Amino acid sequence: MNHFDYLDGELHCEGVSLTDIARDVGTPVYVYSSATLERHYNVFAGALNASPALRSPKGEAPLVAYAMKANSNLAVLRTLALQGCGADTVSEGEIRKAMTAGVPAEKIVFSGVGKTDAEMAFALKAGIYQLNVESRPELDRLARVAASLNMIAPFVIRINPGVGSGGHAKITTGGARDKFGISAEEALKLYADAAAHRNLAPVGIACHIGSQITDLTPLQAAFSRMKGWVEALRAEGLSVERLDLGGGLGVPYFNQPAPPHPVDFAEMAALTVGHLGLRYTFEPGRVIAANAGVLVSRVVHVHERIDSGQKFLVLDAAMNDLIRPALYDAYHDIRPVAAPTNDDSDIYDVVGPVCETGDTFTRNRELPRLRAGELVAFMSAGAYGAVMGSEYNSRPLAPEVLVRDGGFAVVRPRPSYDEMMAREPLPQWLEMGLE
Ligand code: LLP
Repeated sequence: MNHFDYLDGELHCEGVSLTDIARDVGTPVYVYSSATLERHYNVFAGALNASPALRSPKGEAPLVAYAMKANSNLAVLRTLALQGCGADTVSEGEIRKAMTAGVPAEKIVFSGVGKTDAEMAFALKAGIYQLNVESRPELDRLARVAASLNMIAPFVIRINPGVGSGGHAKITTGGARDKFGISAEEALKLYADAAAHRNLAPVGIACHIGSQITDLTPLQAAFSRMKGWVEALRAEGLSVERLDLGGGLGVPYFNQPAPPHPVDFAEMAALTVGHLGLRYTFEPGRVIAANAGVLVSRVVHVHERIDSGQKFLVLDAAMNDLIRPALYDAYHDIRPVAAPTNDDSDIYDVVGPVCETGDTFTRNRELPRLRAGELVAFMSAGAYGAVMGSEYNSRPLAPEVLVRDGGFAVVRPRPSYDEMMAREPLPQWLEMGLE
């Protein structure tokens, strides 16, 4: 469920007309719904909280660490932090943003295959909940960094469970040949070694098998292997207190079977890995943010090929604003902001102005007939949308707007051309001859 609906013939977000936002802020523009963000977090966390099997021995509910790579706008993070959300981070920048948005350090998880020494030191000094270690060289470096700070590093080892899943090969992470995590065999050995190290505190294991997963079967298979490895570690006399089960739950993009509801996901998790006397962590990203955002764009013109009759709907948004179709062949529903008043439709190739063929959002899509100047909304663009934007072709980053209770705020303004150019100072020897 989300809060983007037609009202009086126009697409609105929480009662605010997207036409008004486009007029005030310009296009292309990302628009997020606070109510949808809050709802998605609360549905997900609520489903997990409702399960006694997923309580820690101290009675703690699972940590829901929002995978902020999905949408790391500070206002989005702050909205979620106020609901009690934690953060799954992958860089010092993300840790800093999470803390600035008010996520307490003890709810921050730090993942990623290439954390630098400086990033590890920053995370340890900040007192985050745990680092998710992905390899032996990384663990060796963590030990050195922790020793140099005279600290003990709480960490979990990310196991690659050999079950890959996801909406596209580029977002599948749990396959045995993917770069993430290590084999269970190696993990068990590392864990035992680390337990003897004075600056390392192995507290558990982690997995994350992929993204946009629309079926519980692979998740269940991975979780059940994780249970086996918790038991194997314990059988060695090692202490295991935490289990991090990653993210990956898919969302409806309208051309796919409906993904499982968080309640079914939580039930599966409880049945598969519940009652192990662990503190559980989940790292949902897309399921929180995707359907909480749209990208609004204006039709520049419609170009009809005289020879073939092929119709190109040329928009002012491009692959630099929303790269998912170009990168993953992703499907985004495209809706006219003004509800169609008749049944006229056309078959379009929907494209942006960037100079490459990859800048095609979709081919042969039947849409209500559209004209130059009209607005369209790319639905489900709240996750992996603005965050993956670039200024390719010297196009300013699309601004972001957050809606709440019938009003809205610009939460990342569009940079001016002067601001863009000021980021690229000319060295003195090139300044000659310029005004
Ligand atoms: N945890 C870890 C360790 C991850 O690598 C990811 C996503 C998540 C959690 C969150 O997964 P989610 O719940 O959002 O599926 N840019 C791609 C998606 C890349 C996902 C990368 N890792 C896309 O636009 O589809």
